Amino acid sequence: MTRIAILADIHGNVPALEAVIDDLAGRAVDEVLVGGDLVGRGPEGSRVVKRVRELGWPAIGGNHEDYLLAFRHHDVPDEWLHTREWAAARWMAAELDDDDVAWIEGLPFSIGRPDLRLVHGTPETNREGIGPWTGDDEVAGHLDGVDEPVLVCGHTHRPLIVESDAGLVVNVGAVGLPFNRDHRAQYAIFSAGGRHGWRVELCQVAYDLERIYEIYESSGFQAEGGVTSHLLRMELEHASPILVPFLEWAKLLEVAPDWQSLDRFFEVFEPGQSLREFFRALAPAS
Ligand SMILES: [Fe+2]
Ligand SMILES: [Fe+2]
Repeated sequence: MTRIAILADIHGNVPALEAVIDDLAGRAVDEVLVGGDLVGRGPEGSRVVKRVRELGWPAIGGNHEDYLLAFRHHDVPDEWLHTREWAAARWMAAELDDDDVAWIEGLPFSIGRPDLRLVHGTPETNREGIGPWTGDDEVAGHLDGVDEPVLVCGHTHRPLIVESDAGLVVNVGAVGLPFNRDHRAQYAIFSAGGRHGWRVELCQVAYDLERIYEIYESSGFQAEGGVTSHLLRMELEHASPILVPFLEWAKLLEVAPDWQSLDRFFEVFEPGQSLREFFRALAPAS
């Protein structure tokens, strides 16, 4: 019986990736696919790329591959190349070697397997994803965008299974930076069978978060990545989004997203709270 493991959103987190590799050793899978965002939002993008290449796992590109390539080629607004706000992105782009960059540039947008299509976000874009908030009609619309009855994705860092007459949509969650308040490295295994050709098992693998915190420090990412690295580390700790809410809050209040603004932000934002409620509460003040 064919079994495929699909993982996504490793985000430069080698301890989380190694935990998944160890877990897979006992699970008799025939093939492993990687659904993008191997790099970005973490300190060891280069090591993740090299490990995935060494294992020979087919991969697609996510939006964070696109972002770091843009920085690498200076294809970003001029101030992003100098301001402290973008220090972490510059650091992560510089951490990749030329060989990593060439490999990332060759990654496809999607991969097809019999009756199964893997994309990073949606069949249309790698910048938007399918999450618990996505309506049934919208999910069905995404299935219309592919020839296969099973659509597999990542990007939102939240695992999800939606099965209907139209087909099966599976978000495999994140290996390196989950946002579903579960710290464990997450991925999915697909076994032949079921109504639409594949049965899915969502997997969670515990690993020692202290190891990734140590790499934040020893690599220089913590010290040189500024507020961004600080908030990414908090995201690992809380397994929920903090960086993007901070940036959106700063934009709304027209304040610089820097250390001085952080205390004010945490007066109104609780890690793990509903983002919809947070922004709804902010709206009248804006
Ligand atoms: Fe991601
Ligand atoms: Fe993404």
